[in-house]
Amino acid sequence: MVGLLITINAVILYFSQTSNTRKYSEKIAEGIEQKGSKCELVRLRKKDKDIDFLKKFDFSRFDLIGIGTPVYYFHPPYHLFDILDVLPSLEGKLGFLFCTSGGNPGSTLYQIKEVVNAKGLKIIDGNDSFIGLDRHPLYRDFGGVYPPSVGHPTDEELENAKKWGMQLVDKASDPSTPEKDDFRKKNSFYAEVQTFEFINKTYPKFKVNEEKCTQCGTCEKICPVDCIVLDSFPKWTKKCDRCYLCEMLCPENAIECDWNWQASHMTELMKKKGFSPENK
Ligand SMILES: Cc1cc2nc3c(=O)[nH]c(=O)nc-3n(C[C@H](O)[C@H](O)[C@H](O)COP(=O)(O)O)c2cc1C
Ligand code: SF4
Ligand code: SF4
Repeated sequence: MVGLLITINAVILYFSQTSNTRKYSEKIAEGIEQKGSKCELVRLRKKDKDIDFLKKFDFSRFDLIGIGTPVYYFHPPYHLFDILDVLPSLEGKLGFLFCTSGGNPGSTLYQIKEVVNAKGLKIIDGNDSFIGLDRHPLYRDFGGVYPPSVGHPTDEELENAKKWGMQLVDKASDPSTPEKDDFRKKNSFYAEVQTFEFINKTYPKFKVNEEKCTQCGTCEKICPVDCIVLDSFPKWTKKCDRCYLCEMLCPENAIECDWNWQASHMTELMKKKGFSPENK
């Protein structure tokens, strides 16, 4: 249990593919440091390497442990569960959780809390209101971005993240701070439906156009779960988190997924919300 500490030693473990969570993490850390405390940042990038790293990581140096993640399909990215699973006992430590999303975080923080509670981490705060630019091929007709998320994170949002970091120090320094226990529970229909199995079964398959592919290796390098192996051309070797960053970041547009059905459906939904591809 943290008593009346003058300096909090904090660490934030965060996963971030398109940099929204990185930006918020850095601001939260800035806020923590502004209060005279210390905050290290650890960016998670590749599942197997992250697991090896965390198995050896010395958590005893820290009083406060933050975990930040993007929201994928109303959940934490699925591979994050495997990473969090290797955390050692964190009994006696305080923690905080945050996620960045296009505006609908589902039950992401509740799900993470369940895992880290089992490690003994006492969660004193959480924030699922951080918005980031949401990129996904589902929004193909809108240039690949979710229109309401354009322009996020704003300077104001990042300043709020910094303020939140400062508040975290106050909460962590106060032994009477209760455990935060009101995260949105895993009860939304969409969160229930979009399981790892479901997204792997229903979302478009990957196809490489070998005439366009220059075998540059970018897709293999960026895949967070090392699903892609370059065997002359890229091959997808297992089920994955379906982030579709491989498709979106291929410099030659050589990864061709058939989004026709899902993207048209999404475009219709967006039209009902007042967004149309013409005025994107
Ligand atoms: C595969 C995928 C699924 C997503 N699912 C959701 C979602 O269910 N709800 C939501 O609000 N945003 C969703 N987003 C948007 C991301 O959560 C958001 O852009 C986040 O800030 C990305 O973080 P990063 O830039 O740190 O990687 C999704 C993005 C991707 C790539
Ligand atoms: S990123 Fe594109 S061009 Fe590069 S290896 Fe992958 S599919 Fe080929
Ligand atoms: S969609 Fe592509 S980059 Fe994302 S996890 Fe799957 S194979 Fe890797």
